[in-house]
Amino acid sequence: MSHSTQNEDITLNDNKIRITQPEFDQFCLFLEKACGILLAKHKQYLVESRLGKILAEGEYSSLGQLTAVLGQPGNSCLKEQVINAMTTNETLWFRDIHPYTILKEKLLPELAVNASSQRLKIWSAACSTGQEPYSISMIIDEFKSEYPGALRLGEEIIATDISTRVLEQARLAEYEMLALGRGLSQDRLKKFFEPSVEEAWKLIPKIKQRVTFRELNLLGEYPDIGPCDIVFCRNVLIYFSTSRKRDILQKIHKVLKPGGYLLLGASESIGNLNDLFDMIHCRPGIIYKAK
Ligand SMILES: C[S@@+](CC[C@H](N)C(=O)[O-])C[C@H]1O[C@@H](n2cnc3c(N)ncnc32)[C@H](O)[C@@H]1O
Repeated sequence: MSHSTQNEDITLNDNKIRITQPEFDQFCLFLEKACGILLAKHKQYLVESRLGKILAEGEYSSLGQLTAVLGQPGNSCLKEQVINAMTTNETLWFRDIHPYTILKEKLLPELAVNASSQRLKIWSAACSTGQEPYSISMIIDEFKSEYPGALRLGEEIIATDISTRVLEQARLAEYEMLALGRGLSQDRLKKFFEPSVEEAWKLIPKIKQRVTFRELNLLGEYPDIGPCDIVFCRNVLIYFSTSRKRDILQKIHKVLKPGGYLLLGASESIGNLNDLFDMIHCRPGIIYKAK
């Protein structure tokens, strides 16, 4: 595999497929329109490493030819393959800790009071392989053990992602030690998992059953998602343009109940949407309350 500067052609794996700058630009336009992801010019290597297999298997002679086919109607399977390959699905258990401490110590006690008349509904809006919604489910379980009788009417976690590949793994709820080692304590491993085949561990049913997975593109509509008490939309807005972010945050506001909470990633913010959300400093951690 060869690497190059952004103005040169690049060579793909051993298949010797060359990407010209105009072809790369065309592909970036397709990707942004399909899922919002903006590829910086220096990210050509991502296309190189992630699309090589699809190009080779489909016997496309160039990235330009693949992009042209993607632009034609009726290629949903190919489009899905490309989106699965181009999304970054990095995730871990209890990522950044603070959101989960805030959930357990502030949000659940507060919402449990209102939850005597309604089920609690939480949306994990870019759930990747499931670590985020399952971490939320574990926190709910721990909260209910500490406060028996709380959340009597039950709770529901809807977890969505654009990538069908990660959703398949998430639904399986089986993880290898390497993935489990990322953020999960020994205590929680013993409490919430049981050994499965070949060094994998399987999540126990009571944690798994609380979560429903569904394919959803954040650029589209959010049917049957709301009204939600809490939305986790973490570490996905970073990939989008300012106007896409704004549009998504406005739609999230619509699915949140008034007074519902939004939790973003550590490097993400609501921008200038102060008319829709109040910022709450939890020290440590920031959350947003829907007006
Ligand atoms: C870096 S992961 C973050 C996972 C998790 N929220 C966390 O913080 O650990 C970003 C996820 O966003 C998903 N994603 C990217 N574009 C999306 C879109 N337009 N709609 C829905 N999900 C998208 C990717 O498939 C990926 O699984």
